[in-house]
Amino acid sequence: MRTLVAGELSLEPQTAAHAEEMFAVLSDPAIYAFENAPPRSIDWLRERFARLESRQSADGREQWLNWVIRTPAAELAGYVQATVRADGSAAIAYELASRHWGRGLAKQAAQAMIRELAEHYGVRALFAVAKRDNSRSLRLLQRLGFTLAAPELHEDRRIEPGEVLMCCDLGSREGEAR
Ligand SMILES: CC(C)(COP(=O)(O)OP(=O)(O)OC[C@H]1O[C@@H](n2cnc3c(N)ncnc32)[C@H](O)[C@@H]1OP(=O)(O)O)[C@@H](O)C(=O)NCCC(=O)NCCS
Repeated sequence: MRTLVAGELSLEPQTAAHAEEMFAVLSDPAIYAFENAPPRSIDWLRERFARLESRQSADGREQWLNWVIRTPAAELAGYVQATVRADGSAAIAYELASRHWGRGLAKQAAQAMIRELAEHYGVRALFAVAKRDNSRSLRLLQRLGFTLAAPELHEDRRIEPGEVLMCCDLGSREGEAR
């Protein structure tokens, strides 16, 4: 994994060394209004980040890529992540501390990651699962060029009630994420 430049942001490959700083970022309760829960402790997060340094799933079939987002003020704002499959598809996700919302930082970071996925990981199709009520995340996905996936894809990917599957075909929108 490489460090990516996203305008004024820098995306650093996530390592265990980021755990302490990221614990503070990820302890913001606003992040969890729709799903998940904050990390239990710095040690727990460090151990998790250390495991993720393998950059792959336990069965080795998926690449698990995580980048932390560093602002021009040198502080961490959150992360972007991708789960890359051998069939050229990737699921993406992101979390930023709420004091960094509403400034386009998530979009900038996600666009840089998507460009990297297309150019260096052979990704042609993107997916993201969002809670139906998570309008901020859905707005971000729409700004990135995602649309609602077909009902049969919702079934294939076992999308739960209350969630939506969004998708984006990179082949049909050359250059748009740049
Ligand atoms: C989802 C999440 C990353 C979105 O963050 P965000 O800051 O709203 O997204 P963006 O970076 O695209 O910022 C867009 C907002 O900044 C505003 N903005 C200001 N300046 C901007 C600029 N130069 N460029 C783009 N947008 C700008 C936009 O108007 C927009 O606000 P609006 O949606 O109210 O119109 C954030 O809400 C989050 O971390 N949520 C918790 C975790 C989560 O739900 N993750 C997703 C799970 S599916």
